[in-house]
Amino acid sequence: MLPADLKAVVSGGASGLGLAVAERIVAEGGRVALLDVQDEAGRQAAAALGSHALFVHCDVTDEAGVDGAVRAAHAALGGLNLAVNCAGIVGAGKLLGRDGPMAGEFFARVVAINLTGTLHVDKAAAQLMQANTPGADGERGLLIHTASVAAYEGQIGQIAYAATKAGVIGMVLPIARELARYGIRAMAIAPGIFATPMVAGMTPELQASLGAQVPFPSRLGRPAEYAELVLAIVRNPMLNGTTIRLDGAIRMQPK
Ligand SMILES: NC(=O)c1ccc[n+]([C@@H]2O[C@H](COP(=O)([O-])OP(=O)(O)OC[C@H]3O[C@@H](n4cnc5c(N)ncnc54)[C@H](O)[C@@H]3O)[C@@H](O)[C@H]2O)c1
Repeated sequence: MLPADLKAVVSGGASGLGLAVAERIVAEGGRVALLDVQDEAGRQAAAALGSHALFVHCDVTDEAGVDGAVRAAHAALGGLNLAVNCAGIVGAGKLLGRDGPMAGEFFARVVAINLTGTLHVDKAAAQLMQANTPGADGERGLLIHTASVAAYEGQIGQIAYAATKAGVIGMVLPIARELARYGIRAMAIAPGIFATPMVAGMTPELQASLGAQVPFPSRLGRPAEYAELVLAIVRNPMLNGTTIRLDGAIRMQPK
C-alpha cells in the first residue's frame, strides 16, 4: 500500500505511540481517525494534525461502540485500509501482592482493554476492509497489533500485561491466514521501552536506568521510530502473520 493512500484508524491515537503513527500518516499524505477514550487530548491532537485527521471517541472494551466508531471513521475518511491497535494499559500487579492475591477483576480489565479491545477493532475494521477494491497484489487492508517485549520476557508484576501482549501476538497468524483470501494482512510490533506518557510516569532515574539497559542504541525508543516501522510494514506486502521486535536488543530482566 502507498502511504499517501492510507485511510487509517488508530486506537489509543490520542497519545504516545498511536499519536506518533497518526502524525506520520498525515505527514505522508494519508488520512487518519484517532480512536481514544481521552476526548480532550484526542480532539486537540486531531485539530493540530489538520484536515486529514479527526477524533472519534472510542472505548475499545465496548464492542458495539468500537463498531460504531470504526464505521464513523470509515465514513469520514472515505474508506479504511489500515487499523493500528495502540490502545493499552500497563496493568501492573503481582500474583501474590502486598494486598493479597491478584483479583480476577483486575486481570479481566487488563484483558478487556489490551486483548479483547484489539479483537474488537480488528473485526470492525476487517468487516469494512473486505469490501475494498483490491490494490496491487490484491491487497485490501492491514491490521497491526501493538504487543510488547513483555510478551517474551515479562517482569515480576507483569502477569496480566504479559498475558495480553502474548495474546495479541498469538492472534496475528490465525488472522493473517483467515483474511488472506481478502488480501488483508495482520502484523504485530513488540516494542521495547519507548518514551511515551505511559513511561513518563516513572521517575527520571528509572527511565535513565531502563534506557541504559538497551544494548544499542542505549536509550529509550522514540515514538517516531515506532511509526517508522508501521510505515515499513505498510509498504512491504510480504510482511504478514508475524511479530517484529523493536527494542534495541533489550532483554528485560526479572525486575
Ligand atoms: N511505551 C512503551 O514503552 C511501550 C512498550 C511496549 C508496548 N507498549 C504498548 O504500546 C501501546 C501504546 O502505549 P503508549 O506508550 O503510547 O501509552 P500511552 O498511555 O501514551 O497511550 C495509550 C493510549 O491508549 C488509550 N486507551 C487506554 N484505554 C483505552 C480504551 N479502553 N479505549 C481506547 N483507548 C484507550 C489511552 O487513553 C492512551 O491515549 C500500548 O498498547 C502499550 O502497551 C508501549
